[in-house]
Parts: sequence; C-alpha cells; structure tokens
Amino acid sequence: MEKNIFITGIGSGYGKAIAKLFLKKGYKVFALSRHLPEDLKGKITFVKCDLEALETVYPSVEKLLKDVKKLDFVILNAGLLTELKDIHDTPIYEMERMMNINVWANKVILDALIDMKIEVDRVIAVSSGASVNGNRGWHGYSISKAALNMLIKLYSREMENTHLIALAPGLILTPMLEKFVLSADENKFPSVKRIKNASKMTPEEAANLLFNKLDKLKEFPSGSYVDIRSI
Ligand SMILES: NC(=O)c1ccc[n+]([C@@H]2O[C@H](COP(=O)([O-])OP(=O)(O)OC[C@H]3O[C@@H](n4cnc5c(N)ncnc54)[C@H](OP(=O)(O)O)[C@@H]3O)[C@@H](O)[C@H]2O)c1
Repeated sequence: MEKNIFITGIGSGYGKAIAKLFLKKGYKVFALSRHLPEDLKGKITFVKCDLEALETVYPSVEKLLKDVKKLDFVILNAGLLTELKDIHDTPIYEMERMMNINVWANKVILDALIDMKIEVDRVIAVSSGASVNGNRGWHGYSISKAALNMLIKLYSREMENTHLIALAPGLILTPMLEKFVLSADENKFPSVKRIKNASKMTPEEAANLLFNKLDKLKEFPSGSYVDIRSI
C-alpha cells in the first residue's frame, strides 16, 4: 500500500532533506511551504502557504489533503528563529511571529487533520534543545519551542490513535543556523561558542538520522519530548 507523509517547511534545510529522503524511500510526499525547491518540482504534492498567515493554514491543509485518507507521518518542521538577542531587547511582535509559525500554525494543522478524519499514524514536531535549555539570547524561539512541546503533549491526550513526539533534531548546518546563530556575538551568548565548536550534521545526515531512529522514537510514550542525541 502507498505510504504518505505530510511535511511543513520544505524550502530549505532539514525539511527539504526529509522530503527528498522520504521520496527516495517510496513515500508520497505532501507539503505546505512558501517555497518549492526546483529539484522537488513535479515530484511531490505541494500547496504554497505562508504559515504566518494563520487564517490561510486550515484551507491550505484542506486543499492539499482533500483526497488523502491516511498519513503514515506528519512532520511539523517549519520554524522561525530571528537574530539572537536578549529577551529584554526583543519586541513582543517579533516573538509573536515565532509563536505563530512554531506553535499556532501547528495547532491549526492538527485541528484540520482531526476535522478531516484523516487517519494519522505518527506526528513528529520539530522542536529544539532551546525548548529546555533557556540559554541567553534565544528569546521567543525558546518560548515557542517549549510551548510546542506542551502542544504536542496536549494533543497526545486527545489523538488516541496517533503517536506524537516533539523532537530536538540535533545541530544541523542550515540557513537558520548560519544566519542567526553562527553569526551572533559569542561573548555575549555563550551557547554560540559551544555550537560553533560542536560537530554539526548536513541536512541530509540529519534526515538519515531521523529515518534510522524512527523505530526507537516509537518506543517513547506519545506526547514525549525527545532529543535525538540522547537515543
Ligand atoms: N538547524 C538546527 O540546528 C536546528 C536545531 C534545532 C531545531 N531546528 C528546527 O528545525 C526546523 C527546520 O529548520 P532548519 O534548520 O532546516 O532551518 P531553515 O533552513 O531556515 O528552514 C526553515 C524551514 O521552515 C520553513 N518556513 C519558515 N517560515 C515559514 C513560513 N512563514 N511559512 C511556511 N514555511 C516556513 C521554510 O520553508 P520556506 O522557505 O518554504 O518558507 C524552511 O523549509 C525548524 O523548526 C527549526 O526550529 C533546527
């Protein structure tokens, strides 16, 4: 039987690599994102959607998945990080943007999947070590990923036939990491120095690691937060 995966955020980085890998593994890929990379054109089912425009998310999911009865995987990958800075210097509207994309868009998506009565086997929401670390400079990103962990736990109580995990994927060299983390002040923000010195995966390596750990992830209770580096 055909296997289906629905993923958000395939324009770059981790999500793009996951989409390509699952395609290679024989999955039918459904994606919501702002950008459709050239090398995925014609190979996946795609609906263009800016997840920040929350009112467009529900109809976009309906359009994308109108003929789908079952999803083997839902990967809530799309995420926003803005420049590292002290929380004291971070305007609430900037943190709201991260809340909208990293948390509320995912709520709308899960609500749409439930309303559409699509059978969903597994949900993996891409969280971050920042959801639990509380390092200086990670402002609304940390708050949004902590909220995402709780969102996933709450939905796990209601989606009894679905296994949900909030997953910290490890350090991946992507536009997000390069643009906002590696370029930040390492004296003011000690985590930047640690990240610079740590080994980082390519998006392809990170996608392979996820694929290889899928069975292991299933062993955790639904609703758990799991750091892939710990398993
Ligand atoms: N890189 C790391 O070390 C690391 C570590 C922990 C967690 N993460 C998480 O991993 C996930 C992927 O990030 P990444 O590292 O691959 O960074 P990235 O290359 O910046 O990717 C961000 C992804 O989110 C999508 N996206 C962003 N804003 C969007 C919007 N408004 N509407 C729709 N899609 C949007 C982008 O697609 P479009 O271009 O199509 O908008 C893109 O595919 C994020 O949730 C991030 O928080 C990354």
